[in-house]
Amino acid sequence: MIFDRVKPLDAILAAAEKKSLSRSLGWFQLTLMGIGCVIGTGIFVLTAVGAQKAGPGLMIAFAIAGGVCIVAALCYAEIAAMIPVAGSAYTYSYATIGEFFAWTVGWALIMEYAIAASAVSVGWSGYFSGTVLGGLGIHLPAWLSAGPLALGGAAGGFINLPALVIALLVTGLLVIGTSESAKVNAVLVIVKVTALTAFVAITLTSSEFEASHFNPFLPAGVFGGWGTGVGAVGAAATMFFAYVGFDAVSTAAEETKNPQRNVPIGLVGSLLFCTIFYILVAAGAIGTIGGQPIMDAMGIPLEAGSPELARQCAMPQYADALVCSNEPLAHALKMLGFSGFGNAIGLAAFLALPSVILVLIFGQTRIFFVMSRDGLLPERLSRVHPRFKTPHVVTIITGLAVAIGAAFFPVGQLADISNAGTLYAFLMVAVAVMVLRVRDPGRKRHFKVPMVWVVAPLTIIGCVLLFFNLPSAAMLFLPGWGIIGVVIYVLYSRRRSHLGQGIVEVVDDVAGDETMVPIEPGRKND
Ligand code: ALA
Repeated sequence: MIFDRVKPLDAILAAAEKKSLSRSLGWFQLTLMGIGCVIGTGIFVLTAVGAQKAGPGLMIAFAIAGGVCIVAALCYAEIAAMIPVAGSAYTYSYATIGEFFAWTVGWALIMEYAIAASAVSVGWSGYFSGTVLGGLGIHLPAWLSAGPLALGGAAGGFINLPALVIALLVTGLLVIGTSESAKVNAVLVIVKVTALTAFVAITLTSSEFEASHFNPFLPAGVFGGWGTGVGAVGAAATMFFAYVGFDAVSTAAEETKNPQRNVPIGLVGSLLFCTIFYILVAAGAIGTIGGQPIMDAMGIPLEAGSPELARQCAMPQYADALVCSNEPLAHALKMLGFSGFGNAIGLAAFLALPSVILVLIFGQTRIFFVMSRDGLLPERLSRVHPRFKTPHVVTIITGLAVAIGAAFFPVGQLADISNAGTLYAFLMVAVAVMVLRVRDPGRKRHFKVPMVWVVAPLTIIGCVLLFFNLPSAAMLFLPGWGIIGVVIYVLYSRRRSHLGQGIVEVVDDVAGDETMVPIEPGRKND
């Protein structure tokens, strides 16, 4: 009974066809878009968290997480090019495995986008307080610069004010209709890539670079143990965050020229580029200033973001440790005597991270918007502002939630929770691709995953592997969040669902481009 509502694909495709966006993007623009969304807090901040989990094994962690994202990106590309309407994985699931699973995916995507936006806000705050305010000689008191449990010796934190403020500022921009232009994105990509290239060049050629810093290479092993979130695979589960965001780009598949060739080059190319870059950055940071984790009495790395790690980081012997820094890349350069370059990299993060927050909050509001237009969430949420033409209600609610998360939680824990939701959504997309290949083999696909029966199962295995190597709190968050979601679905959404009432709505954008298709008589949907 509960699994029977599937949105008819034909109705969705008919609506999408009307939109017929011109195919103007080439592989280079796609790659730029991918890099713009992806490079952010993951590399600029979580490098410290990843090193605390795996030491030099962080390099392997980046390779594992990048590999999982590349196979997932191929699955996203096939389905996004085929079902090119708003709502991403939520809409794909609605058209393949039905309303209930679509609801769970939409619910999990809230974890992905909103909590990721909180994490990036906290990451930005570290660079803002360290580089910008620090450079001006201003030092925020600990209670204003970190949440109660923040990493990095900031014990005594109460509220992360800069993170709260940046989340609210970005929300304000979205309410008045700011979206990131391709030009701004291109400039920010150049800023980020230049900063990271300078980092790699300086560190890898530094006289401080020592092979001994890589020994032991895997201080916490490959698998650090169930629920601990440490070891190379545990770090991969966290560093997965450094790749999140490419799914927001996969929807551009419909605007791509020669998608069969350009989509895989653009998506996979940007992810490969980031993977190689990330590995080099990790090698540079660890090779020069070292990156061994701080262990507990049992020889297990202390949990990132834990009060105990914060206490240890406050000790003089760890004052310069990579794993204790809130702005690890700038910190590494300053330690090497390149203060000017350290400040420049801090400035690059300060300038570029808000655009990642923007993409993430934007993605979240569009998912909410489509779910509300489908009747699964209250319709009041999808009200469009008369002047700004933006879904202001849902944007403000999302922004407030993001700001609260950013104000009180540490970046590593936020990233892990976000990853749990994202891994679930990626897994469902891989399932949806296979379901459609079986159920609808003849349908035109602008891009087809090569060797789908290898790539899609690999995506599923990769997502499961990473999920079960997250710290237990993040792992348990998903079912906890899921139970709340299922209760809301059963008590509210199922009864209010437009599809359940016999109407298929397809939303293309918030400006009201919407198609309503009554379901053909006799079709059973309840
Ligand atoms: N991948 C994005 C980042 O690292 C979310 O900030």
